[in-house]
Amino acid sequence: MPASAYEQRPNLRPVNLARDKVGSTNDRQKSKRVERLPASDSDHSSHFRLAYRALLLVTAGASERDAVQRAAASDPRLTSVKREALALVLGTVSEQDVIDILVRNGHPDEKMGMTTRCLFRLTTYAMLRLGAKGQTRRIEHGLRAIAPIELLPKLEFFLGTLPAFDTTQMLYGLRDSERVALQTHHPVWWVNYCFRVFGRAEAVELLSSRTRPRYLRVNSLKNRGKTTLPKELGVLAERLTKVPSTPGVYTVVGSLSDFAGFFSSGSFQMQDLASFLAVKSGAPVPGEKVLDLCAAPGAKTAAIAQLMRNRGSIVSVDYSSRRMKGWRREVQRLGVKIAEPMISDVSCLGLRDSFDLVVIDPPCTGTGVFDRNPRMKWHLSPQSVARYSILQHHFLESAASLVGERGRILYCTCTLTVEENENVISAFLKSHPEFETRPILEQYGSPGLLGLADCRRFYPHRDRTAGYFIAGMQRTN
Ligand SMILES: C[S@@+](CC[C@H](N)C(=O)[O-])C[C@H]1O[C@@H](n2cnc3c(N)ncnc32)[C@H](O)[C@@H]1O
Repeated sequence: MPASAYEQRPNLRPVNLARDKVGSTNDRQKSKRVERLPASDSDHSSHFRLAYRALLLVTAGASERDAVQRAAASDPRLTSVKREALALVLGTVSEQDVIDILVRNGHPDEKMGMTTRCLFRLTTYAMLRLGAKGQTRRIEHGLRAIAPIELLPKLEFFLGTLPAFDTTQMLYGLRDSERVALQTHHPVWWVNYCFRVFGRAEAVELLSSRTRPRYLRVNSLKNRGKTTLPKELGVLAERLTKVPSTPGVYTVVGSLSDFAGFFSSGSFQMQDLASFLAVKSGAPVPGEKVLDLCAAPGAKTAAIAQLMRNRGSIVSVDYSSRRMKGWRREVQRLGVKIAEPMISDVSCLGLRDSFDLVVIDPPCTGTGVFDRNPRMKWHLSPQSVARYSILQHHFLESAASLVGERGRILYCTCTLTVEENENVISAFLKSHPEFETRPILEQYGSPGLLGLADCRRFYPHRDRTAGYFIAGMQRTN
C-alpha cells in the first residue's frame, strides 16, 4: 500500500479491493471463506458459473440468496458449489461501487449490457480478492470457461488491464465522506447520514463492521419445553458457542452447511439475536392473545409461540401470499400449533378483536442488515427513508385500536435511521397519550436516541447483531 491519505486517518480502512495487500484479519477471514475453490480441476469453473448466473438474476431484482438458489435449481450440477457462489455474489454486490469504477476503467463502453457488466464485475472481484493468492491462472481459466464465446476477446483485454489499476488512485481529491463511502462500500448519502447521527468516529466503526455471527436457537417446542441442546445436535456441539446472556442461543462457528441435515426436524431456529431479543422484550406468556403484524416469513411468530409454550393464540398478518407460504413452512417445521395466518394489508385490517400484545415488524430500509442484503445499499436513498417512515407510522396507528386494556405494543425494525424508529415512536406517543414506553432489555444494546431511553438500539459493530431498534409500549388506561 503506497503512502496515502489513509495515513492521516488511521481509524479508516483502505478500499477493500486494495486491502488484500494490507491483509487485515477481516480480509483474511473473508478471503478464506471465498477461497475454498472446488477441489477437482474439472469443476474449477462451476462456482463462477453459478455466481455469474445468480448475479444476472440479482440485477433483475432477485435477492442474493434467492438468486443463487434459483440458478442452482435450474442446473443440479451446480448445487454443490452454492456456498462458494453465494460468497462470490455477496462480495461482488457489496463492493460494486469500487468494482464499477474498475470496470469502467478497463472497458469504457457506455452501452455495456448486463451480461458483459456482470461478467466483468465477477472477474474484478475474483481477480482482486482471490488473485493475490497465487491462484490467478486457475481463476482466469475458470472465468474464460464461463464467458459467453462472443465476450472472450473483451474478457482477455479486461484481464490484461486489471492488474495495472491502482485502487488507491480513485480516492485522490475526494471529500472525506466520499472517501469513506468508497473505503467502506456504502453510498455517500448514507455515510453523511451516519456522520450526522452517530458522529464520524462511531460512524466509521459502524460502516466498517463486517462479520456478525450466525445465531442458532434451540426450539423448545421440539425439545420437551427445554432450551438445552437436544441430543441430535450433540454431534455438532463443538461448532456451537453459548451466548451467555441468553439461554438456548448459540453462535455457529464455521459453515452452516453441516447443520442443514438437522434443519427439517425443527430442533432449532436460525434467528439474529436482536430479532429474538425483540420478541423477548414483548414478554408474551402462555394463554395470551397476540397479533403479529408483518409476520412473514415467520421467525417472530415461531419465537413468540416458543415463549408462550404453544398456549394461547397468535394471529399472523402479512399481505404477501408468496412470503406467507414461507411462514406456513416455518411454523410447521418448528411445531407451532397456536398461530393462524391472515393474508391482509395491515393498513386496512378490518379486525374488531383486541389483543394482549401487538407485534409490529414493518418493512424498513434494512440499513442494519446490509451485510446479508448488500444490493439494498445501492437501491436506497433519503427518499426511501421518508417513504418507509410514513408507512411505519400508519401501521402503528392501525395497531393502536387493537390493543386491549393494559395491552402492549412491540415495535421493531432492522434499520438504524431515526426517522423510522424514534421519530415514529415520538409521533405516536404524542397523538396517543394513552400509551407509554416501558423500559426493556436494559442489560442489552444501547438506549434509543432523542431522549427515548426506554427503547433499545443494537449496532453490528458493538453488539455483534443486526442493526436493530426495539420499542415496548403499554396502554395505560
Ligand atoms: C421485516 S419483514 C417481517 C419479518 C417477520 N416479522 C419475521 O420475523 O419473520 C416485513 C414484512 O412486512 C410485509 N408487509 C409489507 N407491507 C405490508 C402491508 N401493507 N400489509 C401487510 N404486510 C406487509 C412484507 O411482506 C414482509 O413480509
